[in-house]
Amino acid sequence: MTDCSSPSITALRGPVPLAHLFLHSFLSTGHHAVDATCGNGHDTLLLAHLVGSGGHVWGFDIQAQAIAETGRRLADAGLADRVTLLQAGHEELDRHVTGPVRVVLFNLGYLPGGDRNVVTRPSTTEAALVQSLHLLETGGVLLVTLYPGHSGGTEERDTVEEWAAGLDPRTCHSWRMAQTTVAPSAPYLLLVQRAS
Ligand SMILES: C[S@@+](CC[C@H](N)C(=O)[O-])C[C@H]1O[C@@H](n2cnc3c(N)ncnc32)[C@H](O)[C@@H]1O
Repeated sequence: MTDCSSPSITALRGPVPLAHLFLHSFLSTGHHAVDATCGNGHDTLLLAHLVGSGGHVWGFDIQAQAIAETGRRLADAGLADRVTLLQAGHEELDRHVTGPVRVVLFNLGYLPGGDRNVVTRPSTTEAALVQSLHLLETGGVLLVTLYPGHSGGTEERDTVEEWAAGLDPRTCHSWRMAQTTVAPSAPYLLLVQRAS
């Protein structure tokens, strides 16, 4: 049995640590990456760390509070110079980011500790996913954490699932990863790799 108390082993409780595990295997120094939903900046910080001094990260959030908190977190870690933070919707991704990028990360829903009425929405999420796929380099991945249990989360899940189901399997490898011991409405992870 695996001992998850070891600091070198990630406790895979929920989709976010699973997404982080993928980030560690897909990103290395010099890569370009996007955090499509900065929130409190935890994910942006990890991306900035993994791409190294030669890489670059673009971070999006519509809330000033999220951009400020993410900026503070990056500055504290001395990594602010490798990140471009944009207070903008991720549906404008292709206006700000020129590909190719290795990873685009989405952590959907609302800002933890913030206004729960400001949430990601099906139509803007889908627009951002379409743009992200175009920006990905071959072999690169989209990682999307979905929260069907949130208010509006079921509609967003349905939109994202429909988009993912329509992807061409010759050009994309698409995965859905959910824990088996949780409710069907629990958060889960979607991974889409651009194969060609
Ligand atoms: C679950 S939080 C992200 C958590 C974050 N990744 C972290 O590490 O703390 C979702 C974020 O998406 C943001 N958001 C909502 N709609 C958005 C949009 N259209 N474009 C970019 N960000 C958006 C919210 O403001 C919120 O901060």
